[in-house]
Amino acid sequence: MTLADVWDRFADGRAPRRTVNAQGATTWLNWTQYPDHGPNESVLGDVTGRRVLELGSGAGSNLAHLATLGAHCVGVDVAPSREQTARERWGHLPGLEFRTAEATDHLTHSGDRYDVVYSIFGAVWFVAPAVLLPLIRARLDAGGTLAFSHLPPGTQQLASGQAAMRHDHPPEKWADLLRHNGFKDVQTEVIEPPPGRTVGTLLVRAVT
Ligand SMILES: C[S@@+](CC[C@H](N)C(=O)[O-])C[C@H]1O[C@@H](n2cnc3c(N)ncnc32)[C@H](O)[C@@H]1O
Repeated sequence: MTLADVWDRFADGRAPRRTVNAQGATTWLNWTQYPDHGPNESVLGDVTGRRVLELGSGAGSNLAHLATLGAHCVGVDVAPSREQTARERWGHLPGLEFRTAEATDHLTHSGDRYDVVYSIFGAVWFVAPAVLLPLIRARLDAGGTLAFSHLPPGTQQLASGQAAMRHDHPPEKWADLLRHNGFKDVQTEVIEPPPGRTVGTLLVRAVT
C-alpha cells in the first residue's frame, strides 16, 4: 500500500467540518483537535498578501480561512481524495490552490517560495525532521514563519498505522531541531485541553 493509499483510507468516512462554528463564522483556523478551542490564525501574524503553504492540508478548511484574509495559499496533501474534497468545498475562493503532492516532493521540486509554512497534525508530524526542516527553510524567505501543531509526544489517539509514522518530539527537542536548521525565536507551547479532556496540543512556532 502506498503512502497516498494509507492517507486516503484514513480520510475515508471522516465527517466534514461544520459549516459554522460557535462564533457563527463560516471559516476559521483551528490548531487543536477540539472544536472552538485554542489560538487562531494570529499565531501566523498578519497573512494579508503573504504566500502561505500548508503541508498536509486535508479537506482545506484551515487554509480556506487564510485565503479569506487575503493570503495567497497553496495546500499540498499526499492523499488524492483530499485535493478533490478541498476543491469541492473551497474551490470557489480566490487565492487558494490545492495540489496532490508528498510534502518533501513539493518542497524539492515546485520552486515556489513562501512567507509562511504551517502544518496542523499534518506532514511535519509524519516526515523525518532531518529531511523536512531543511527543505522548508530553503523555501521560506527571510522573516518567514513556520508553525505546526500535533499531539504531545506519548499520546495515542490515531490509528496504529498513523501512530507508527509519527515523529513525536517534546518541545525542547523541536526547539533544538529548528535552531539546528536555521530557525530562530522558537516558541513552543502545550495548549491545555478543554474541560473534561485530558490530551493537550503541542504548538510550535519559529521564524527564519
Ligand atoms: C491527521 S490529517 C490532518 C489534516 C488537516 N491538517 C486537518 O487538520 O484536518 C494528516 C494529513 O496530512 C497528510 N499527509 C501526511 N503525510 C504527508 C506527506 N508526507 N506529505 C503530504 N501530506 C501528508 C495526510 O494525507 C492527511 O491529510
